[in-house]
Amino acid sequence: MPLRLETITTERLVIRGFRPGDEADRQLLIHEAFELNESLEDARRWVNWAFESDNFHDLMAQPAYGDYAVVRRDTGELVGSVGLVPTMIPWGVFPEFRPANTPAHTFTTPEYGLFWAVRTHARGRGYATEAAKAFIQKYVCGVLNAARVVAMTEFENKKSQRVMEKLGMRLYRNPQPDPFWFQVVGVLDNPLVRIMALKARSKAENLADLRKILDQVPSVPPEDYDAL
Ligand SMILES: CC(C)(COP(=O)(O)OP(=O)(O)OC[C@H]1O[C@@H](n2cnc3c(N)ncnc32)[C@H](O)[C@@H]1OP(=O)(O)O)[C@@H](O)C(=O)NCCC(=O)NCCS
Repeated sequence: MPLRLETITTERLVIRGFRPGDEADRQLLIHEAFELNESLEDARRWVNWAFESDNFHDLMAQPAYGDYAVVRRDTGELVGSVGLVPTMIPWGVFPEFRPANTPAHTFTTPEYGLFWAVRTHARGRGYATEAAKAFIQKYVCGVLNAARVVAMTEFENKKSQRVMEKLGMRLYRNPQPDPFWFQVVGVLDNPLVRIMALKARSKAENLADLRKILDQVPSVPPEDYDAL
């Protein structure tokens, strides 16, 4: 089964693989988003690697982890990036994620982690949220069939936390000092997983009622309802 991301189109944006020609845009994006001074040659090597990695992920039948270009449909301008990173999460720092009466711990498990970045002049227009929402719906849930997706950021990155909230994620703040790099995580369960549990619990026969609930959750691709 091909796990590669096909181009996704939203109301205002196109999400597609990075490709040769994107080097200068990628260089500017990374500079503005993370204050990194990559050279154009660094950006060229990265773009080639991202372009080729899709082919190798395909060969290995593995999920196409990586960043994707976010392009405005009206102007063709590359304004940002959204993607997936294998994110290590020490769930045991949160009391809700470990058995009662057990101590906090920092063992990690990998999760599907979201990445997003938008060029400075294009921020505040909802591009990160629009791109991430479609990416979750169409790719992370729609193709990878992920049970859940997470996003990780620092305490002070309020913009990223706001994007998480707008996506419907539950936010958790690490109450421990360690690991120092683990500060805020947003979690979004695949609503199909929740609805299956609900269905089993309530023995509900009435799918229409369940669909009404699903309609309130932003990340459910309606075409998947029938797979329940
Ligand atoms: C985080 C980032 C991708 C958001 O991109 P964006 O396209 O501006 O995001 P959106 O417009 O979809 O949403 C941003 C939200 O943050 C809000 N926001 C902006 N500044 C804020 C602040 N200081 N505190 C709280 N919320 C803030 C905006 O008002 C908006 O929410 P609203 O729609 O309710 O008004 C962008 O700021 C960025 O590239 N930052 C640098 C890279 C980065 O931090 N990436 C995340 C790594 S974890």
